Amino acid sequence: MTYTLTTPLYYVNDKPHLGSAYTTLACDALARFQRLKGERVIFITGCDEHGLKIQRTAEQAGLTPQAHCDRVSAQYRELWQAWEISNDRFIRTTDPRHRQLVHQFFKRVEAAGDVVEGRQQGWYCVACEEFKDDPAGANTPNCGIHHRPLEWRDEINLFFRLSRYQQPIEELIRRPGFISPPGRQKEVENFVLQGLRDFSISRLNVPWGLPVPGHEPQTFYVWFDALLGYLTALLEPGDVPDLELLSQRGWPASVHVIGKDILRFHAVYWPAMLLSAGLPVPERVFGHGFLTREGQKMGKSLGNVLDPATLLERCGPDAVRWYLLRDIGFGDDGDFQQQRFTDLVNNDLANTIGNLLNRTSSMARRWFAEAVPPVSSALTDQHPLALASADATQRVLAALERLDFRAAAEAALQLAVAANGYLNEQAPWSRMKRQEGVEQVADDLYAVLEAARIVALLIAPLLPDLAERMLAQLAQAPLASGVPEQASSDAPASPPWSERLWWGGLVAGTPLPEPAPVMARLELEETL
Ligand code: MSP
Repeated sequence: MTYTLTTPLYYVNDKPHLGSAYTTLACDALARFQRLKGERVIFITGCDEHGLKIQRTAEQAGLTPQAHCDRVSAQYRELWQAWEISNDRFIRTTDPRHRQLVHQFFKRVEAAGDVVEGRQQGWYCVACEEFKDDPAGANTPNCGIHHRPLEWRDEINLFFRLSRYQQPIEELIRRPGFISPPGRQKEVENFVLQGLRDFSISRLNVPWGLPVPGHEPQTFYVWFDALLGYLTALLEPGDVPDLELLSQRGWPASVHVIGKDILRFHAVYWPAMLLSAGLPVPERVFGHGFLTREGQKMGKSLGNVLDPATLLERCGPDAVRWYLLRDIGFGDDGDFQQQRFTDLVNNDLANTIGNLLNRTSSMARRWFAEAVPPVSSALTDQHPLALASADATQRVLAALERLDFRAAAEAALQLAVAANGYLNEQAPWSRMKRQEGVEQVADDLYAVLEAARIVALLIAPLLPDLAERMLAQLAQAPLASGVPEQASSDAPASPPWSERLWWGGLVAGTPLPEPAPVMARLELEETL
């Protein structure tokens, strides 16, 4: 079985913003979790490059659409590399193989009798690339999202007969777990129960689109072509594009992770298109919330857009990953607040987790010949920290299965809090001062180091860099939760992640390297 997961394919009308980074970071955590569990993962991301919005942006930039797409998609690719995103694929919808697959798919849909000609009249938002059902306003209404005037369209287009799929789509969206989180399911259900209407899948005057075979000069509506990018992405390098191949290449997707604004496309239109083409539907669609900044919507005109490249440069990957995944319930809307960001990172990562490891390994080195202390009773799985570790592990695993990154982060953090509490209670430094109970000190330090090791393993899907630094500090083999080809093949084989999570993995007497802070404090004087 393959675990195929996708981010949306991002529009290349502008450089990447925090919203796109948010989805991609969450998917990266999920991909790493699945790999650590031993699954074969195909993590897909990429760019959506056709349509009127891109065509116009290129015109404004004085570039050909292709040159513009090349430029912006390269920015995405570079950003994900800088963020160490472990995507296995990067698909661009201008890929020549994509055109072939779209044609094949369309032929199937047409042969199924699901394509009809019709007159498309309505108000269109180019920024959304979507017709608006009931636009408010008099002569020229505005888009409720972009606050820009809608454009009137009246043309003959090809329509996909979505109305024929009312029944199967109703069943699908009621299938437990298909749409998450549960609140979003209701939203989609309300829409579907209003009655599904056919929608236009071609455009007459948009040259920057894939031609509709047999219906030139119509080009495909950008969403029809974009969703199919998930399929093209699964083709392997030598593959001739063929829909028949996909079941061996990782289709259907285990999950599409998207923002709530594009849920309808993924949970309704897309499954219907797939059913029409005789292909299986995705197993799950997860619609996350929207990010604001200090309570305000981010936008160019407000000048408050957070640039993910700047964030990375100034704060490092662990800080931002932690804040976004720990502070915002995945599925809820979230607000980026710089002060809260700094406080959380410094309290949770630098103090609670970083200092725990640092001070414990310093003590162990000082009193036990620079090594993991010899251990007696701390090894029992009834030790309070052994129990806390087992509990945290179980909670992190369950939370990550349901994409609840916040609960996973909290459970891992609580283990570090428990270990700090235990250390303070036992106060091994006082025992050492009194020169009594050295055995007890050894046990206590062993138990705290062991808990820190488990914290490192538990945060690995969320904070791969910090986890590796912690493991190195504990003289443990790296995890390599990234793309398999990138994992070093000459590293000594270590037990799988799930076994490494068992209590008692640290070997007494293992030399410990000189401690260095694993997490720097954030000192942000200016606004990001
Ligand atoms: N090209 C389409 C997707 C096609 S998928 C086959 C698209 N692209 S997008 O670049 O406009 O948006 C990509 C994602 O970013 C969407 O999931 C959207 O919800 C998300 N976000 C855009 N702004 C956002 C925030 N402010 N906060 C969180 N996510 C946001 O739609």
